[in-house]
Amino acid sequence: MPQHLIGLLLGTEEDWPTAFTEILRRLGPVKDGSGDTHTFDVERVTIEPFDLRSKPRHSLVIDRLAYWYYHPREWLKKIALMDDVYLLNSPFTFQSMEKHAAYCAMMRLGLKVPDTVLVPYKHPLDNSRYAYTAARYNRQFDLDAIADHLGYPMFMKPYDGGAWVGVSRVRDSAELHAAYDASGERLMHLQSSVEGYDSFARSLSIGAETMVMRFRPELPMHERYEVSHGFLSPDAGSEVTSISRIVNAFFRWEFNSCEMLVRGTEVHPIDYANACPDVALTSLHYYFPWAMSALVRWAVFCCVTARQPRLDLDTRRYFEIADREDLSYEDKLTEYRRLADDYFDTPRYTDFCASRLSNVDDLVLEWIQSADFDKLLVSTVRSTYPAVEHERFIAHFRGLLGLWAQDQGR
Ligand SMILES: Nc1ncnc2c1ncn2[C@@H]1O[C@H](COP(=O)(O)OP(=O)(O)OP(=O)(O)O)[C@@H](O)[C@H]1O
Ligand SMILES: [Mg+2]
Repeated sequence: MPQHLIGLLLGTEEDWPTAFTEILRRLGPVKDGSGDTHTFDVERVTIEPFDLRSKPRHSLVIDRLAYWYYHPREWLKKIALMDDVYLLNSPFTFQSMEKHAAYCAMMRLGLKVPDTVLVPYKHPLDNSRYAYTAARYNRQFDLDAIADHLGYPMFMKPYDGGAWVGVSRVRDSAELHAAYDASGERLMHLQSSVEGYDSFARSLSIGAETMVMRFRPELPMHERYEVSHGFLSPDAGSEVTSISRIVNAFFRWEFNSCEMLVRGTEVHPIDYANACPDVALTSLHYYFPWAMSALVRWAVFCCVTARQPRLDLDTRRYFEIADREDLSYEDKLTEYRRLADDYFDTPRYTDFCASRLSNVDDLVLEWIQSADFDKLLVSTVRSTYPAVEHERFIAHFRGLLGLWAQDQGR
């Protein structure tokens, strides 16, 4: 009887690991195509010395820590290279393909990423060779001329950023110089702003599933994901889904969120290297049950079908499509999407879910309506917000999860 240990590499979160573990426990064993029964255990990964030749016990690891904690990041690389452990996500592409590389790759594919310029560091780097190198090779440049070319307003943001750190909207030359002066030793992009967009779509993808949500970046975190159905035209909705899957298949990310601004019929991706996406109960609320179900489904699918982890990138196949002059933008998306569906083994996944995991929706619904889940909701609110806010937020999230349960149509 194959047994699978799923490792969770975690930072401070308690909410989604509890949800994931509980849903998997309620699901119980799953049979594969040959009738063998697979069982699952979940364990939080601890950080300790490891021998490079040691054998890990895990079949699959979901990582939410390695983007800032390097010891477990190197452990992930070891178990990927030496032991074929299935990882969400590849530590290699996540480390090297930060925002900047992701912009480059998707521009190369012809996606409508706003024009972007990388400017050199404002402050000297802390390196004894810097003065000589800079004096010899740094070319003077005219920041205002770059800005005039991109046009105001624009965004200045770190080339590798996250969580809005160092992001500023720049309206004129004075703001530009102030933002650049403040950037210090952070490497910055200047990026044209997509002004007057109709919708901000933020998608969360887990394996071969994608949820496209309306995002309200100007609101506090618990209100940013608006509960809104059909807010995009069918064409824009499917383009957002396709772009999300293409980005992920290209980089081998299987747990990632993408931000796109939709103006008229155009979809502009602005931020899609988020391979450690926020899945907090207090951020996703209404969409949390979907995210947990999808994470369980994808993890189980990978383990039971012995899906092979892919560390290599298949860039050439994408670029061959990108470089064709006979294909329109829409044709190219269709072709890339084919590669993405192939990577995610989408038809097989869909069949697997239908034949082995059709009870997940029901058991998640039952759990979300249980006292057990309510306890998790209350403790999550208590650990997230100050005491004076507890009552208000408990009612708020109970309402949204109640709405979700109601919308399941039962
Ligand atoms: N080119 C752009 N046009 C319009 N708005 C933009 C653009 N770039 C960034 N923004 C706005 O700035 C916000 C932060 O930018 P971005 O998402 O690139 O930074 P981040 O640090 O990755 O943020 P997060 O981690 O929250 O996703 C976006 O959510 C969006 O509201
Ligand atoms: Mg963002």
